[in-house]
Amino acid sequence: MSEGIESILTETRVFPPFPNLVPDAAISGMDAYHVLCQEAERSPDDFWARMARENLNWTTPFAQVLDESKAPFYRWFADGEMNVSANCLDKHLNTPTADKTAIIFESDDGQVSTITYKQLYQRVCQFANGLKSLGHKAGDRAIIYLPMSIEAVVAMQACARLGIIHSVVFGGFSSKSLHERAVDVGATLVITADEQVRSGKSIPLKSAVDEALAMGGCEAVRHVIVYNRTGGPVEWNERLDLWMHDVSANQPEECAPVPLNAEHPLFILYTSGSTGKPKGVQHATAGFLLWALLTVKWTFDSKDTDVFWCTADVGWVTGHTYIAYGPLAAGLTQVVFEGVPTYPNVGRFWEMIQRHKVTVFYTAPTAIRSLSKAADSSLEFHPREYDLSSLRIIGSVGEPINPDAWMWYYTNVGRERCPVLDTWWQTETGGHMITPLPGVTPLKPGSCTLPLPGITAAVVDEAGDVVGPGKGGFLVIQRPWPAMIRTIWGDPDRFVKSYFPPELKGAYLAGDGAQRDADGYFWIMGRIDDVLNVSGHRLGTMEVESALVAHALVAEAAVVGRPDATTGEAVVAFVVLKRSLPEGEEAVMIARQLRDWVAKEIGPIAKPKEIRFGENLPKTRSGKIMRRLLRVVAKGEAITQDVSTLENPAILDQMSQSH
Ligand code: PRX
Repeated sequence: MSEGIESILTETRVFPPFPNLVPDAAISGMDAYHVLCQEAERSPDDFWARMARENLNWTTPFAQVLDESKAPFYRWFADGEMNVSANCLDKHLNTPTADKTAIIFESDDGQVSTITYKQLYQRVCQFANGLKSLGHKAGDRAIIYLPMSIEAVVAMQACARLGIIHSVVFGGFSSKSLHERAVDVGATLVITADEQVRSGKSIPLKSAVDEALAMGGCEAVRHVIVYNRTGGPVEWNERLDLWMHDVSANQPEECAPVPLNAEHPLFILYTSGSTGKPKGVQHATAGFLLWALLTVKWTFDSKDTDVFWCTADVGWVTGHTYIAYGPLAAGLTQVVFEGVPTYPNVGRFWEMIQRHKVTVFYTAPTAIRSLSKAADSSLEFHPREYDLSSLRIIGSVGEPINPDAWMWYYTNVGRERCPVLDTWWQTETGGHMITPLPGVTPLKPGSCTLPLPGITAAVVDEAGDVVGPGKGGFLVIQRPWPAMIRTIWGDPDRFVKSYFPPELKGAYLAGDGAQRDADGYFWIMGRIDDVLNVSGHRLGTMEVESALVAHALVAEAAVVGRPDATTGEAVVAFVVLKRSLPEGEEAVMIARQLRDWVAKEIGPIAKPKEIRFGENLPKTRSGKIMRRLLRVVAKGEAITQDVSTLENPAILDQMSQSH
């Protein structure tokens, strides 16, 4: 458990909903919320069928709602057909939304371009027609490795239009991570860019694709389509490579959306689990889009006049649900940002909110914590120096937000007039699960409050029995919901094992510890497995360990998390080298080498903050690494546990030195 937990549990501040937000909220008042919850509880099938009929356009209406016959491989609306892209774009065509701005794109260097819904529709259709002419079709898998751009949204929407299953890989991942994912999905298509731009620097992307393909095993890839972002140098492979603008050129501006079964996989997105290999979380067409749209409506209380800005990257689930799909299905104007919050200065977010008159702002606690620190030291870029009066809702996602960060966000960004929505969810859940609602929920700093209607969240013990208020336990979702993960791509056994352990009586195991307070509010206590959350990014300790032991110098490695004031958790690696214990300058040098190695193997986000060397790892006599002890050592705390079962207790002193 992290250090912040105690202060969370003694938190007593409550902020009632702002009266101006209640009357015309999508869910207006606690009574309306309860009515929906009760409707969902009384007859879940009728509730979800009503939602799916009212919110989605179907080419073949469904008759069946939930199919539990192969539980936990649940199927939703499985005899219906629809198309996600048609539900995001075509449905706006003959409405006033057609000429509304869909995306305001701001590049790293501050240039702004906009695209209307009609234009976006045409761009998506042209690209989809291009893909079709190259022979790509429903059921094929495409890797998308693109920077934040209108093109990334176009690529995802074009895939959805044709039924090509996309797997977006975050641009910060290494060629090796990219390779692993391309092989696992059996990609036949890669869509990338020459380079990406961050903080004024160009970083190559296409060359990482070249490297990944050269590693072998991706021979099924028939085309690499390249978005010309910077005009930077690329090596060109005549057999595979095509420019994105050439693929779209001269293609018709209409492309019939392919009617797809509701259960057709929309995308596969890799996330870390408790083994070394990332899991390909598979989401289905209709259920995912239904929840993306409903949660935009409910949680963000979307209005036609909103300017919505989710700062996530499309490489993460937040960028799927709350950039590429949800806001478009809701017909919102949204900001898409290429850069980073600290360039050209730490006021970038606030300046952009002011410039684009953002009304709904959604970001991560890490950004809030680091920007609050920065604002205190560079007062010129403090949020109070900007006009943020357009904001009406501010949200947080990805990791626990500690009460201090919550209060800073609430006071300095929301100016005490915007609710802070602490949204708890996961790659696997498809969209928000437990979150305050602007017109409903009294807020408590540090709590994600109450589940959305239809979501049966509970805290249970090891036997699957619900525990009482104030007692810690496992966070579970007791009944299936339409946007849930369908399976792990290519590994159904791991799906069942990871999420539906037999003792939990069929409930979905989220992998987080939680407790409820006397008001039924949920307080998330962090992961219960070997997964870390660094700056809101999920990282498996085993993934980092595998990367470390792949280095020629390393014999053994154990990775744990330690609380960090900015990044939430930081990676600490305990390493045994194949050679003698390094000291002084040499140790610092090897630690640097290993950090760079991990960045190259996985991506910079996985770089250990600290590396500690020892002649051995602390193990029990049966050879099990004592991670619990390593966590204590990583925090710099004194060991109070009994270490008599350790094979070599002296090792703990050695390991307490950081490099
Ligand atoms: O531990 C929880 C944490 O992030 C995990 C999910 O990570 P990922 O699949 O990458 O999705 C992140 C974006 C939805 C969860 O298991 N987490 C996410 N949101 C919160 C959170 N922890 C506490 N409070 C949150 N609001």
